[in-house]
Amino acid sequence: MDHYEIRGGTPLSGRVEIHGAKNSVLPMLAATLLNHGVSVLHNCPNLSDVDASLAILRHLGCRVEREEDRVTVDAASVTRWDIPDHLMREMRSSVIFLGAILARTGQADVSMPGGCELGPRPIDLHLAALERLGAEVEQQGGRLLCTRGDRLTGAEIDLSLPSVGATENAMLAAVGAFGCTVIRNAAREPEIVDLARFLRSMGAQVRGEGSSTVIVEGKTPLHDAEYRVMGDRIVAATYLSAVAAAGGEAELTGADPSQFSSVLALLRQGGAEIRCRPQSVHIRCVQKPLCGVGCIRTAPYPGFPTDAQPVLMAALCRSQGTTVFVETMFENRYRHVDELCRMGANIRAEGRVAVVTGVERLRGAPVQAHDLRGGGALCVAALGAEGITTVTGLNHIRRGYASLVEDLSALGAEIREVNA
Ligand code: UD1
Repeated sequence: MDHYEIRGGTPLSGRVEIHGAKNSVLPMLAATLLNHGVSVLHNCPNLSDVDASLAILRHLGCRVEREEDRVTVDAASVTRWDIPDHLMREMRSSVIFLGAILARTGQADVSMPGGCELGPRPIDLHLAALERLGAEVEQQGGRLLCTRGDRLTGAEIDLSLPSVGATENAMLAAVGAFGCTVIRNAAREPEIVDLARFLRSMGAQVRGEGSSTVIVEGKTPLHDAEYRVMGDRIVAATYLSAVAAAGGEAELTGADPSQFSSVLALLRQGGAEIRCRPQSVHIRCVQKPLCGVGCIRTAPYPGFPTDAQPVLMAALCRSQGTTVFVETMFENRYRHVDELCRMGANIRAEGRVAVVTGVERLRGAPVQAHDLRGGGALCVAALGAEGITTVTGLNHIRRGYASLVEDLSALGAEIREVNA
C-alpha cells in the first residue's frame, strides 16, 4: 500500500511557498461554466479533488487544459447537465456544481452526495437557496433533478447557518438569475471572498463578500477571465503545526496570515514566536514543547477553522498541560484521535469534545488517515515523534495537499513516499 515514511525528531528549518487554496479553486472551477468562453486560473494546486472537478467539466462538454499550475477552461460548448455517480462520489463538494450547471443550462441532474468521512453532510440549505431563486428540485432514485422553469429570478435568501457550500451555490446560481439576489447569514470565509473576486473578474456584479450579506446582480454580460487563486490557509496551518510539533523555524510565503489569525493566536498562546507580513508568516518554536492552550472551539470564520482542528491537535500532543477541543461544525471529526493515541498521545474524545493531555514523547507507529485533514495531523504528529511512522490512506491526503513530501523535505523533514 502507498504510504509515507516519516522519521521524526528533526527540528525543521527553511522556507516554503504555500500552494493555491483547494476550497477556493473548486467553486471557481464550477464558476467557469457561467461564462460561454475561456477562464484561466493560475496557482491551481495539483490535487485529486481538482482532477475530479476537471473530469466533471470535461464530461459537461468543456475543453480543459492544464499546464503546471495553470488551468484553462473553455466552456463555450457545454452539452450536458448531468454529473455521473462515480464523479459525484469522488468528491463530496461536487454538489457545488449544482448552482452553476442550473444557471448555465436551466437544469441539473446529479446524484445525492452521501455522508462522508466527517459524518452526515446535508445539502438542505443548498437546495432551499436554489428553490428561492425559482429552481424546482426533485429526488428520484438517489438522483437530484433540478429544473428552473422559464428562468431563475433573484431573491432574498436567508441561510439558517452560514454554510460555505450553500453560500457558494447560491452565489453561482444568482449570477445567472434575473435581478438582484441578497444572501443573508452568508458564510464569511476567505474562500467566499476569493470566489467573489473571480466572479467579478469575469464581469459578474457581486458585493458584500466577507460580510454576512452578499449581494449579486444577476445576468450581467460575462467575459473571458484570468485569475490567480489565493494561497491555502489550511495548508499553511498544517505546516505551522508541523514546526510547532517538531521545533525549529520556518517561513511560509504565498498565503495571507490575516486569514488564519485565529490559528496564529493559539500557536502564540502555546509559546510559538510568530511574525507576519502581508503574504508571509515566520514561525519559531524554541520553547519546546508548546504549552496547553485551554479551550479551542471550532466555529465559522473568523472563528477557529474546523479544518485546522486535527493539525493543531497533533501539534499539542506533546504540550505541557491540557487543551480541550470542542468541534461544533462536524459530528465525526475526531477519527485521527485513535491514530494519534497509537503513537502514545493521551486524548480522550467523547461526542464533540476531545481533551488532549500533553505527553513527554510520541513514538512512531503505523497509522492510517481516515480523512484529509486527519491525514495532515498524522504527518504533523509523526514529525515530532521518536522513530519511524508510516502513514497510509494517502488518497485522503492527496485531496488537499499537493506537495506535502516536497514541502516538508524542503524544511529538512525526513519524509518519503513509498509506492507499493
Ligand atoms: C466547507 C469546506 C470544508 C470546511 C467547511 C466548514 C469546501 C470544499 N469545503 O465545507 O473544508 O470544513 O466548509 O468550514 O469548501 N450544513 C447543513 N445543511 C447544508 C449545508 C451545511 O446542515 O445544506 C451544516 C453542515 O452539516 C455543517 C455546517 O453546516 O455542520 C457547515 O457546513 P458547510 O459550511 O456547508 O461546509 P461545506 O461547504 O460542506
